[in-house]
This record gives sequence, structure tokens and C-alpha cells, in this order.
Amino acid sequence: MDGLANKSIIVTGGGSGIGEAAAVLLGRAGCDVTIADMNSEGGARVAAAINAEGIGRAQSLVTDVSNEDAVRAMVDAAMATYGKLDGAINSAGLPPVGKKVYDLSLAEFERNYAVNLRGMFLCFKYQIQAMLKSGGGSIVAIASTAAQRGLQDSVEYCANKAGVTGLVRGAAVDCARQGIRINAVLPGGTLTPMSMAAVESIDSMPDASAMCPLARWAQPVEIANAAVWLISDLSSYVHGTAMAVDGAQLIV
Ligand SMILES: NC(=O)c1ccc[n+]([C@@H]2O[C@H](COP(=O)([O-])OP(=O)(O)OC[C@H]3O[C@@H](n4cnc5c(N)ncnc54)[C@H](O)[C@@H]3O)[C@@H](O)[C@H]2O)c1
Repeated sequence: MDGLANKSIIVTGGGSGIGEAAAVLLGRAGCDVTIADMNSEGGARVAAAINAEGIGRAQSLVTDVSNEDAVRAMVDAAMATYGKLDGAINSAGLPPVGKKVYDLSLAEFERNYAVNLRGMFLCFKYQIQAMLKSGGGSIVAIASTAAQRGLQDSVEYCANKAGVTGLVRGAAVDCARQGIRINAVLPGGTLTPMSMAAVESIDSMPDASAMCPLARWAQPVEIANAAVWLISDLSSYVHGTAMAVDGAQLIV
């Protein structure tokens, strides 16, 4: 995608799945990518792959997005290594615990909240502070279609992903005049280690023809393409939105 070369972009959760696909696309577009993931092996592997291709550059950090000091350090590292911050794709997230609302413990609810919603707030806060110094930017929050529909055995996930879209709207109006665009992507079912682990736990592959009108799972790169477009200047008038990339799941 044109116009991305030399942009400094953070990808949280960049060591696997949708974040990995986004980091690779950004590297191929000539970006300086900071991959921040709790999974040190995954982050290091993706950074090495980007550096080996020799188009963009990448560094990997072990970061827990639910920890404020770690998020501050992640943004400081992007600024220190690449001198600015132009964008972020925040893909780090936990899957649903897989229990009914009446069986879910408070600790399980709060763990999902700490990463999926509070972690997104922390990323927004420190990324925006850096973008204010860098002269603007674009932030993409990877939410879920669960932000707008009920998903069984996933009450904490639905609540926190809906919260992410609220965070996007609030931050978008706060930052509109400062040249910082903020949007959410709502993926439908996507073939990643997260979704495959959930499928294994229920011991059968959900029927893709019933999942959405396109009747198939998404590949991670199909979600990442939308996120990278939102980072790029091609989406310059798209701000504060929640863009479904879901094979039309939400319209039926
Ligand atoms: N796969 C799907 O079907 C699907 C659908 C809708 C939304 N999503 C969302 O997409 C995002 C990416 O999911 P994925 O499917 O690529 O999963 P994934 O498990 O392949 O990747 C998620 C990455 O986030 C990292 N991570 C988890 N907790 C973290 C933390 N506290 N700090 C830093 N990194 C952390 C993991 O180590 C992992 O590398 C998630 O936010 C998920 O909720 C996924």
C-alpha cells in the first residue's frame, strides 16, 4: 500500500494471528514496526521475518498491555528506536472464557477486562500522547463482531469488545482536531491460534455455512488488510467508526 514507507507503527499482539499478519504487511510496505506481545517467541519470530525480508524494519518487545508501566515502556521504545509514532494496530486480546454469565467468576471477568478493555485504554492513552508529539497518526483497535451481537458463553468478551467501540468513539472526538484518526475493526470468525484453541475446546468445527453469508472463516490477512488500510492515508476521512470485516455476519 502506497504512503506507508518509513511510518513508525506499533502492533500489539503482533506475535500471532491477526496482529502477525498486520505486522508482516506493514513490514512489506516499508514501515518501522514495533511488535509488542506477551509471547516473546512469537514477537521475536515475526520481527526476524520482517527484518529478513529487508523492506521495513522491526523490533520486538515483551509487553503485557494490561500493565501501565509496560505500555508506557512500549511507546517509549518505539519513540526511542524510530524517533516518532505514526500509528498503532492494537490486536492483543484474550478469547472468551467460555462460561455462562451465571457461572463466570468475578476474577475471570476482570482478567478479560484487564487485557481487552483496560489494556486498550492504556494503549490509546500513551500512543496518543506520542502521536501528539509526532504530528498526528492513526490508531486501529481490533474489536470483534461480538461488540454488536450476543455470543454464547462469552459475556465478558461481548462487554469488553463493546467497550472498545465506545473507547474508539470517545477518543475519536477527543483527537479529531489533532490529526489523529481512531477506528475499530470488527472481525468475524478468523482462522488464528485463538479461534482454533476455542474450536478444540468444544471438539468440533462450527459450521462455516451457518457462521456468515460468505460461509467461510476469514484468513488473518483479510482482517489485517482492513487494519492496514485504516492506518494508511487512503482512509483519511474515516474516523471514529467500527468497520465490520465479517463476511456479512452482522447484517443477518
Ligand atoms: N480469531 C478470531 O476469530 C477473532 C474474531 C474477532 C476478534 N478477534 C480479536 O482479534 C485480536 C487478535 O486475535 P487473534 O485471533 O489474532 O488471536 P491470537 O491468539 O492469534 O493473537 C493474540 C495475541 O495477543 C497476545 N496477547 C494476549 N494477551 C496479551 C497481553 N496482555 N499483552 C500483550 N499481548 C497479549 C497473545 O500472546 C497473541 O500473540 C483479539 O483482540 C481478538 O479478540 C479475533
